[in-house]
Amino acid sequence: MAAITYDHATLTYPGATRPSVNALDLEIADGEFLVLVGPSGCGKSTSLRMLAGLEDVTEGTIRIGDRDVTHLPPKERDIAMVFQNYALYPHMTVADNMGFALKIAGMKKDEIGTRVREAAKILDLEPYLDRKPKALSGGQRQRVAMGRAIVRSPQAFLMDEPLSNLDAKLRVQTRTEIAALQRRLGVTTVYVTHDQVEAMTMGDRVAVLKDGFLQQVDTPRNLYDKPANAFVAGFIGSPAMNLVDVELTEGGARLGGHTVPLQRSAVAALADAGGRTATLGFRPESVELVRAGEGFPVEVVVVEELGSDAYAYGRLTTATGQTVDPLLTLRVDPRKPPAKGETVHVAIRAGEGHVFSSESGRRVTADER
Ligand SMILES: Nc1ncnc2c1ncn2[C@@H]1O[C@H](COP(=O)(O)OP(=O)(O)O)[C@@H](O)[C@H]1O
Ligand SMILES: [Mg+2]
Repeated sequence: MAAITYDHATLTYPGATRPSVNALDLEIADGEFLVLVGPSGCGKSTSLRMLAGLEDVTEGTIRIGDRDVTHLPPKERDIAMVFQNYALYPHMTVADNMGFALKIAGMKKDEIGTRVREAAKILDLEPYLDRKPKALSGGQRQRVAMGRAIVRSPQAFLMDEPLSNLDAKLRVQTRTEIAALQRRLGVTTVYVTHDQVEAMTMGDRVAVLKDGFLQQVDTPRNLYDKPANAFVAGFIGSPAMNLVDVELTEGGARLGGHTVPLQRSAVAALADAGGRTATLGFRPESVELVRAGEGFPVEVVVVEELGSDAYAYGRLTTATGQTVDPLLTLRVDPRKPPAKGETVHVAIRAGEGHVFSSESGRRVTADER
Protein backbone atom coordinates (compact mmCIF):
# COMPACT_ATOMS: atom_id res chain seq x y z
CA MET A 1 0.00 0.00 0.00
CA ALA A 2 1.20 3.46 -0.76
CA ALA A 3 0.34 7.09 -1.29
CA ILE A 4 0.02 8.33 -4.88
CA THR A 5 1.09 11.70 -6.21
CA TYR A 6 0.31 13.41 -9.49
CA ASP A 7 2.70 16.31 -9.77
CA HIS A 8 1.79 18.65 -12.64
CA ALA A 9 1.00 15.55 -14.68
CA THR A 10 0.07 16.45 -18.23
CA LEU A 11 -0.83 14.31 -21.20
CA THR A 12 -1.31 15.53 -24.75
CA TYR A 13 -2.24 12.75 -27.18
CA PRO A 14 -0.25 12.71 -30.43
CA GLY A 15 -1.81 15.16 -32.88
CA ALA A 16 -4.11 16.74 -30.27
CA THR A 17 -4.15 20.52 -29.98
CA ARG A 18 -4.60 20.61 -26.22
CA PRO A 19 -3.81 18.35 -23.29
CA SER A 20 -6.41 15.76 -22.27
CA VAL A 21 -5.07 16.07 -18.73
CA ASN A 22 -3.59 19.44 -17.84
CA ALA A 23 -1.04 19.96 -15.05
CA LEU A 24 -2.85 17.65 -12.65
CA ASP A 25 -1.76 18.05 -9.02
CA LEU A 26 -3.25 15.46 -6.75
CA GLU A 27 -2.06 13.73 -3.58
CA ILE A 28 -3.82 10.55 -2.60
CA ALA A 29 -3.14 9.31 0.90
CA ASP A 30 -2.06 5.76 1.73
CA GLY A 31 -5.25 3.69 2.05
CA GLU A 32 -7.52 6.41 0.70
CA PHE A 33 -10.46 5.81 -1.65
CA LEU A 34 -10.25 8.65 -4.14
CA VAL A 35 -12.86 9.05 -6.87
CA LEU A 36 -12.20 10.89 -10.13
CA VAL A 37 -15.49 12.21 -11.50
CA GLY A 38 -16.55 14.47 -14.36
CA PRO A 39 -18.50 14.46 -17.60
CA SER A 40 -17.57 12.21 -20.51
CA GLY A 41 -14.30 13.24 -22.15
CA CYS A 42 -12.99 15.29 -19.20
CA GLY A 43 -9.86 13.14 -18.84
CA LYS A 44 -10.76 10.61 -16.12
CA SER A 45 -9.61 7.47 -17.95
CA THR A 46 -6.54 9.27 -19.24
CA SER A 47 -5.56 10.24 -15.68
CA LEU A 48 -5.95 6.63 -14.57
CA ARG A 49 -4.05 5.25 -17.56
CA MET A 50 -1.18 7.65 -16.85
CA LEU A 51 -0.99 6.24 -13.33
CA ALA A 52 -1.16 2.67 -14.66
CA GLY A 53 1.58 3.36 -17.18
CA LEU A 54 -0.68 2.67 -20.16
CA GLU A 55 -0.06 6.17 -21.56
CA ASP A 56 3.15 8.19 -21.66
CA VAL A 57 3.05 11.30 -19.55
CA THR A 58 3.92 14.39 -21.63
CA GLU A 59 5.05 16.51 -18.68
CA GLY A 60 5.16 16.25 -14.92
CA THR A 61 5.71 13.37 -12.53
CA ILE A 62 3.78 10.48 -11.03
CA ARG A 63 4.87 8.84 -7.79
CA ILE A 64 3.65 5.72 -6.01
CA GLY A 65 4.97 5.77 -2.46
CA ASP A 66 8.42 7.32 -2.76
CA ARG A 67 9.05 5.75 -6.16
CA ASP A 68 9.00 7.97 -9.25
CA VAL A 69 7.09 5.71 -11.65
CA THR A 70 6.65 8.28 -14.43
CA HIS A 71 8.65 6.24 -16.93
CA LEU A 72 8.20 2.71 -15.53
CA PRO A 73 6.31 0.11 -17.59
CA PRO A 74 2.92 -1.00 -16.14
CA LYS A 75 4.16 -4.30 -14.73
CA GLU A 76 6.78 -2.58 -12.59
CA ARG A 77 4.29 -0.22 -10.95
CA ASP A 78 2.72 -2.80 -8.62
CA ILE A 79 -0.87 -1.72 -9.25
CA ALA A 80 -3.95 -3.70 -10.30
CA MET A 81 -6.54 -2.35 -12.66
CA VAL A 82 -10.25 -3.22 -12.94
CA PHE A 83 -11.83 -2.23 -16.23
CA GLN A 84 -15.42 -1.60 -17.22
CA ASN A 85 -15.61 -4.67 -19.46
CA TYR A 86 -13.79 -6.89 -16.90
CA ALA A 87 -11.65 -8.42 -19.69
CA LEU A 88 -12.06 -11.98 -18.38
CA TYR A 89 -10.64 -14.86 -20.42
CA PRO A 90 -13.72 -16.78 -21.62
CA HIS A 91 -11.99 -20.18 -21.93
CA MET A 92 -10.52 -20.11 -18.42
CA THR A 93 -12.27 -20.99 -15.17
CA VAL A 94 -12.92 -18.37 -12.53
CA ALA A 95 -9.97 -19.71 -10.51
CA ASP A 96 -7.64 -19.56 -13.52
CA ASN A 97 -8.84 -16.08 -14.41
CA MET A 98 -8.13 -14.90 -10.90
CA GLY A 99 -4.71 -16.53 -10.71
CA PHE A 100 -3.52 -15.80 -14.24
CA ALA A 101 -1.41 -12.71 -13.47
CA LEU A 102 0.30 -14.59 -10.63
CA LYS A 103 1.08 -17.52 -12.91
CA ILE A 104 2.60 -15.18 -15.49
CA ALA A 105 4.66 -13.62 -12.71
CA GLY A 106 6.04 -17.11 -11.96
CA MET A 107 4.40 -17.66 -8.58
CA LYS A 108 4.25 -21.21 -7.23
CA LYS A 109 1.04 -23.15 -7.82
CA ASP A 110 0.33 -23.67 -4.09
CA GLU A 111 0.70 -20.00 -3.31
CA ILE A 112 -1.56 -19.07 -6.24
CA GLY A 113 -4.18 -21.53 -5.01
CA THR A 114 -4.08 -20.11 -1.49
CA ARG A 115 -4.44 -16.53 -2.69
CA VAL A 116 -7.26 -17.36 -5.11
CA ARG A 117 -9.19 -19.20 -2.39
CA GLU A 118 -8.72 -16.29 0.05
CA ALA A 119 -9.98 -13.78 -2.49
CA ALA A 120 -12.87 -16.05 -3.47
CA LYS A 121 -13.88 -16.25 0.17
CA ILE A 122 -13.85 -12.46 0.58
CA LEU A 123 -15.92 -12.06 -2.60
CA ASP A 124 -18.36 -14.96 -2.05
CA LEU A 125 -17.06 -16.66 -5.17
CA GLU A 126 -16.04 -20.00 -3.64
CA PRO A 127 -18.88 -22.02 -5.24
CA TYR A 128 -18.01 -20.69 -8.70
CA LEU A 129 -14.26 -21.26 -8.92
CA ASP A 130 -14.59 -24.05 -11.52
CA ARG A 131 -17.08 -22.25 -13.73
CA LYS A 132 -16.33 -20.35 -16.91
CA PRO A 133 -17.24 -16.64 -17.03
CA LYS A 134 -20.19 -17.24 -19.38
CA ALA A 135 -21.89 -19.28 -16.66
CA LEU A 136 -21.85 -16.32 -14.25
CA SER A 137 -24.18 -13.38 -13.74
CA GLY A 138 -22.97 -9.83 -14.48
CA GLY A 139 -22.46 -9.16 -10.79
CA GLN A 140 -20.41 -12.33 -10.34
CA ARG A 141 -18.21 -11.47 -13.34
CA GLN A 142 -17.63 -8.08 -11.81
CA ARG A 143 -16.49 -9.80 -8.60
CA VAL A 144 -14.10 -12.06 -10.52
CA ALA A 145 -12.56 -8.92 -12.02
CA MET A 146 -12.17 -7.58 -8.46
CA GLY A 147 -10.72 -10.91 -7.34
CA ARG A 148 -8.11 -10.79 -10.04
CA ALA A 149 -6.97 -7.44 -8.64
CA ILE A 150 -7.09 -8.57 -5.00
CA VAL A 151 -4.93 -11.72 -5.42
CA ARG A 152 -2.01 -9.58 -6.51
CA SER A 153 -1.94 -7.63 -3.19
CA PRO A 154 -0.92 -4.53 -5.11
CA GLN A 155 0.08 -1.09 -3.81
CA ALA A 156 -3.07 0.35 -5.35
CA PHE A 157 -6.30 -0.54 -7.11
CA LEU A 158 -7.24 1.48 -10.19
CA MET A 159 -10.84 1.10 -11.31
CA ASP A 160 -12.35 2.60 -14.45
CA GLU A 161 -16.16 2.63 -14.31
CA PRO A 162 -16.25 -0.97 -13.01
CA LEU A 163 -20.01 -0.89 -12.42
CA SER A 164 -21.25 0.52 -15.68
CA ASN A 165 -22.23 -2.87 -17.13
CA LEU A 166 -24.54 -3.69 -14.22
CA ASP A 167 -28.22 -2.82 -14.02
CA ALA A 168 -29.27 0.01 -11.72
CA LYS A 169 -30.17 -2.05 -8.66
CA LEU A 170 -27.07 -4.23 -8.78
CA ARG A 171 -24.94 -1.15 -9.32
CA VAL A 172 -26.16 0.36 -6.06
CA GLN A 173 -25.58 -2.90 -4.17
CA THR A 174 -22.15 -3.48 -5.71
CA ARG A 175 -20.94 0.05 -5.03
CA THR A 176 -21.60 -0.50 -1.34
CA GLU A 177 -19.75 -3.84 -1.48
CA ILE A 178 -16.72 -2.34 -3.22
CA ALA A 179 -16.55 0.56 -0.76
CA ALA A 180 -16.80 -1.85 2.20
CA LEU A 181 -14.19 -4.18 0.67
CA GLN A 182 -11.79 -1.30 0.07
CA ARG A 183 -12.12 -0.15 3.66
CA ARG A 184 -11.50 -3.69 4.87
CA LEU A 185 -8.42 -4.23 2.70
CA GLY A 186 -7.17 -0.67 3.17
CA VAL A 187 -5.58 -0.58 -0.29
CA THR A 188 -5.18 2.87 -1.84
CA THR A 189 -7.80 3.09 -4.58
CA VAL A 190 -8.38 5.45 -7.47
CA TYR A 191 -11.86 4.96 -8.86
CA VAL A 192 -13.22 6.58 -12.03
CA THR A 193 -16.89 7.26 -12.66
CA HIS A 194 -19.03 9.79 -14.51
CA ASP A 195 -21.79 9.26 -11.94
CA GLN A 196 -21.70 11.88 -9.22
CA VAL A 197 -23.90 9.84 -6.89
CA GLU A 198 -21.44 6.95 -7.12
CA ALA A 199 -18.60 9.41 -6.49
CA MET A 200 -20.26 10.99 -3.47
CA THR A 201 -21.27 7.70 -1.86
CA MET A 202 -17.99 5.83 -2.37
CA GLY A 203 -15.13 8.30 -2.07
CA ASP A 204 -13.23 9.44 1.02
CA ARG A 205 -12.50 12.38 -1.25
CA VAL A 206 -13.71 13.21 -4.73
CA ALA A 207 -11.74 14.98 -7.47
CA VAL A 208 -13.88 16.77 -10.05
CA LEU A 209 -12.39 17.16 -13.54
CA LYS A 210 -13.58 19.24 -16.47
CA ASP A 211 -11.83 19.63 -19.84
CA GLY A 212 -8.65 18.09 -18.44
CA PHE A 213 -8.47 20.51 -15.50
CA LEU A 214 -8.93 19.59 -11.86
CA GLN A 215 -11.76 21.77 -10.53
CA GLN A 216 -11.79 20.77 -6.87
CA VAL A 217 -10.80 17.87 -4.68
CA ASP A 218 -12.47 17.52 -1.32
CA THR A 219 -14.68 15.38 0.89
CA PRO A 220 -18.18 14.74 -0.45
CA ARG A 221 -19.62 17.02 2.25
CA ASN A 222 -17.36 19.95 1.40
CA LEU A 223 -17.92 19.57 -2.34
CA TYR A 224 -21.62 19.79 -1.68
CA ASP A 225 -21.55 22.62 0.84
CA LYS A 226 -18.75 24.70 -0.61
CA PRO A 227 -18.34 24.07 -4.32
CA ALA A 228 -15.28 25.99 -5.52
CA ASN A 229 -16.95 27.14 -8.72
CA ALA A 230 -20.23 27.16 -10.63
CA PHE A 231 -19.30 24.02 -12.58
CA VAL A 232 -18.80 21.90 -9.45
CA ALA A 233 -21.92 23.47 -7.95
CA GLY A 234 -23.99 22.34 -10.92
CA PHE A 235 -22.33 18.93 -11.31
CA ILE A 236 -22.49 17.67 -7.72
CA GLY A 237 -25.96 17.09 -6.31
CA SER A 238 -29.14 15.60 -7.70
CA PRO A 239 -31.40 17.31 -8.55
CA ALA A 240 -28.82 19.93 -9.48
CA MET A 241 -28.29 23.27 -7.79
CA ASN A 242 -30.24 26.16 -9.30
CA LEU A 243 -27.84 28.59 -10.98
CA VAL A 244 -29.19 31.94 -12.16
CA ASP A 245 -27.61 35.16 -13.42
CA VAL A 246 -28.31 38.10 -11.16
CA GLU A 247 -27.54 41.82 -10.98
CA LEU A 248 -25.89 43.03 -7.81
CA THR A 249 -27.39 45.78 -5.69
CA GLU A 250 -26.72 47.14 -2.24
CA GLY A 251 -26.90 44.11 0.06
CA GLY A 252 -28.37 41.70 -2.40
CA ALA A 253 -29.07 40.43 -5.89
CA ARG A 254 -31.81 41.42 -8.29
CA LEU A 255 -33.52 38.36 -9.64
CA GLY A 256 -36.23 39.14 -12.16
CA GLY A 257 -37.02 42.44 -10.45
CA HIS A 258 -37.09 40.93 -6.96
CA THR A 259 -34.36 41.44 -4.40
CA VAL A 260 -32.73 38.38 -2.88
CA PRO A 261 -30.67 39.14 0.22
CA LEU A 262 -27.07 37.95 0.00
CA GLN A 263 -24.15 37.78 2.36
CA ARG A 264 -22.67 41.26 2.58
CA SER A 265 -19.15 39.88 2.32
CA ALA A 266 -19.95 38.28 -1.04
CA VAL A 267 -21.51 41.42 -2.47
CA ALA A 268 -18.58 43.48 -1.22
CA ALA A 269 -16.04 41.06 -2.70
CA LEU A 270 -17.75 41.19 -6.09
CA ALA A 271 -18.13 44.96 -6.04
CA ASP A 272 -14.43 45.31 -5.18
CA ALA A 273 -13.61 43.21 -8.21
CA GLY A 274 -15.71 45.61 -10.31
CA GLY A 275 -18.46 43.04 -10.88
CA ARG A 276 -22.07 44.12 -11.27
CA THR A 277 -23.47 40.72 -12.05
CA ALA A 278 -22.97 37.30 -10.50
CA THR A 279 -24.22 33.75 -10.68
CA LEU A 280 -26.47 32.93 -7.76
CA GLY A 281 -26.73 29.29 -6.75
CA PHE A 282 -29.15 27.64 -4.35
CA ARG A 283 -29.94 24.00 -3.84
CA PRO A 284 -33.50 22.70 -4.22
CA GLU A 285 -33.62 22.04 -0.47
CA SER A 286 -32.33 25.50 0.42
CA VAL A 287 -35.65 27.21 -0.21
CA GLU A 288 -38.74 27.68 1.86
CA LEU A 289 -42.18 28.64 0.70
CA VAL A 290 -43.26 31.98 2.15
CA ARG A 291 -46.30 34.28 1.99
CA ALA A 292 -47.11 36.33 -1.08
CA GLY A 293 -45.12 39.55 -1.01
CA GLU A 294 -42.14 37.81 0.57
CA GLY A 295 -39.54 36.06 -1.56
CA PHE A 296 -39.96 35.67 -5.31
CA PRO A 297 -42.94 34.15 -7.14
CA VAL A 298 -42.49 30.90 -9.07
CA GLU A 299 -45.12 29.38 -11.32
CA VAL A 300 -45.08 25.61 -10.90
CA VAL A 301 -44.80 23.75 -14.22
CA VAL A 302 -44.13 20.15 -13.11
CA VAL A 303 -44.35 18.35 -9.76
CA GLU A 304 -42.38 15.14 -9.17
CA GLU A 305 -43.50 13.06 -6.21
CA LEU A 306 -40.96 10.47 -5.13
CA GLY A 307 -42.53 9.35 -1.88
CA SER A 308 -39.88 10.50 0.58
CA ASP A 309 -39.34 13.71 -1.38
CA ALA A 310 -41.17 15.92 -3.81
CA TYR A 311 -39.76 18.43 -6.25
CA ALA A 312 -41.54 21.30 -7.96
CA TYR A 313 -40.09 22.68 -11.17
CA GLY A 314 -41.20 26.20 -11.91
CA ARG A 315 -40.54 29.50 -13.67
CA LEU A 316 -39.67 32.66 -11.89
CA THR A 317 -42.17 35.44 -12.55
CA THR A 318 -40.61 38.92 -12.84
CA ALA A 319 -41.98 42.03 -11.17
CA THR A 320 -43.54 42.93 -14.54
CA GLY A 321 -45.22 39.55 -14.90
CA GLN A 322 -42.90 37.83 -17.40
CA THR A 323 -41.43 34.43 -16.75
CA VAL A 324 -37.70 33.79 -16.77
CA ASP A 325 -35.73 30.70 -17.79
CA PRO A 326 -34.26 28.38 -16.61
CA LEU A 327 -36.74 26.26 -14.69
CA LEU A 328 -36.01 26.36 -10.96
CA THR A 329 -36.05 23.18 -8.89
CA LEU A 330 -37.58 23.40 -5.42
CA ARG A 331 -37.82 20.63 -2.86
CA VAL A 332 -41.28 20.84 -1.37
CA ASP A 333 -43.22 19.06 1.35
CA PRO A 334 -43.96 15.56 -0.03
CA ARG A 335 -47.14 15.42 2.08
CA LYS A 336 -48.59 18.58 0.55
CA PRO A 337 -46.81 19.56 -2.65
CA PRO A 338 -48.05 22.56 -4.64
CA ALA A 339 -50.23 21.91 -7.67
CA LYS A 340 -49.16 22.32 -11.27
CA GLY A 341 -50.08 25.85 -12.41
CA GLU A 342 -49.99 27.24 -8.88
CA THR A 343 -47.76 30.19 -8.04
CA VAL A 344 -45.63 29.72 -4.94
CA HIS A 345 -43.47 32.29 -3.18
CA VAL A 346 -39.93 31.25 -2.55
CA ALA A 347 -37.19 32.49 -0.25
CA ILE A 348 -33.63 31.19 -0.03
CA ARG A 349 -32.72 30.20 3.53
CA ALA A 350 -30.27 32.55 5.19
CA GLY A 351 -26.68 31.49 4.55
CA GLU A 352 -27.64 28.88 1.93
CA GLY A 353 -27.12 31.00 -1.16
CA HIS A 354 -23.90 30.46 -3.15
CA VAL A 355 -22.42 33.31 -5.14
CA PHE A 356 -20.09 32.79 -8.08
CA SER A 357 -18.24 35.34 -10.17
CA SER A 358 -19.85 35.85 -13.60
CA GLU A 359 -16.41 36.09 -15.19
CA SER A 360 -14.41 33.27 -13.63
CA GLY A 361 -17.23 31.16 -12.19
CA ARG A 362 -15.29 31.05 -8.92
CA ARG A 363 -17.02 30.98 -5.57
CA VAL A 364 -17.07 34.33 -3.79
CA THR A 365 -19.30 33.52 -0.84
CA ALA A 366 -17.30 34.00 2.33
CA ASP A 367 -17.14 31.06 4.70
CA GLU A 368 -19.73 31.41 7.38
CA ARG A 369 -19.81 27.98 8.88
N1 LIG B 1 -6.03 7.45 -27.57
C1 LIG B 1 -6.48 8.70 -27.71
N2 LIG B 1 -6.03 9.50 -28.71
C2 LIG B 1 -6.45 10.78 -28.83
N3 LIG B 1 -7.32 11.39 -28.01
C3 LIG B 1 -7.81 10.65 -26.99
C4 LIG B 1 -7.43 9.28 -26.80
N4 LIG B 1 -8.07 8.82 -25.70
C5 LIG B 1 -8.83 9.84 -25.26
N5 LIG B 1 -8.69 10.94 -26.02
C6 LIG B 1 -9.31 12.25 -25.81
O1 LIG B 1 -8.89 12.76 -24.54
C7 LIG B 1 -9.98 13.35 -23.84
C8 LIG B 1 -10.18 12.66 -22.51
O2 LIG B 1 -10.58 11.32 -22.75
P1 LIG B 1 -10.83 10.29 -21.57
O3 LIG B 1 -9.71 10.37 -20.60
O4 LIG B 1 -11.13 8.98 -22.18
O5 LIG B 1 -12.15 10.92 -20.90
P2 LIG B 1 -13.18 10.28 -19.84
O6 LIG B 1 -12.64 8.99 -19.36
O7 LIG B 1 -13.27 11.33 -18.78
O8 LIG B 1 -14.48 10.14 -20.56
C9 LIG B 1 -11.17 13.28 -24.78
O9 LIG B 1 -11.28 14.49 -25.47
C10 LIG B 1 -10.81 12.15 -25.71
O10 LIG B 1 -11.40 12.32 -26.97
MG1 LIG C 1 -13.42 7.06 -19.49
